[in-house]
Amino acid sequence: MATPTLPFVPASSCQVLFSVEQIRERVIAIGKQISEDYKGESIVLVGVLKGAAIFLADLARAIEVDNTFDFVAVSSYGKGKTSSGAVKLIKDLDVPIEGKHVIVVEDILDTGLTLSYLRKLMLQHKPASLKIATCLDKPERRLVPIEADYVCFKIPNRFVIGYGMDYAEKYRNVADIRLFPEDKV
Ligand code: XMP
Ligand code: MG
Repeated sequence: MATPTLPFVPASSCQVLFSVEQIRERVIAIGKQISEDYKGESIVLVGVLKGAAIFLADLARAIEVDNTFDFVAVSSYGKGKTSSGAVKLIKDLDVPIEGKHVIVVEDILDTGLTLSYLRKLMLQHKPASLKIATCLDKPERRLVPIEADYVCFKIPNRFVIGYGMDYAEKYRNVADIRLFPEDKV
């Protein structure tokens, strides 16, 4: 049997949830907040590939205090109804974070499984401090108790694309954040 192909949904047909301007405003506000919270310090931003890459690129430039960045990548299995909660690291840090002020940067905090796994992992490296910044937060979906320290937007339980976020690896380059039609997910 032929492999079924995904129906192509043009991004232009998806409803805009947050415009480029709204995203920019929030990222700048979070960048300012971080700059105040870490005045006189250096920070390491740890982005979670691939979804957080674009948010991290904007956030790093909105932060006025000295900062460097690194990336990790994880894969998760059996999320949703059959959740095993298993998250696996597929790309580790390149640079040691011991004694450093670390902010993990995510695209979406959803069930919380990914970030609670990463938080535990990062703490094993003994950073001076550890915080979490996420572009979006879906609090309704939480399976484990974890909150982000910096959140651009809280959203209801809807699937979104754009600004780094994908559906089957597509739409990451869409500049704004859009709702993906429920019946296509
Ligand atoms: P947790 O472990 O918190 O995982 O459930 C968060 C990760 O799930 C992905 N995710 C989404 N990706 N649109 C996306 O493109 C969404 O609406 C969405 N909700 C969750 C995302 O990779 C995030 O890092
Ligand atoms: Mg992600």
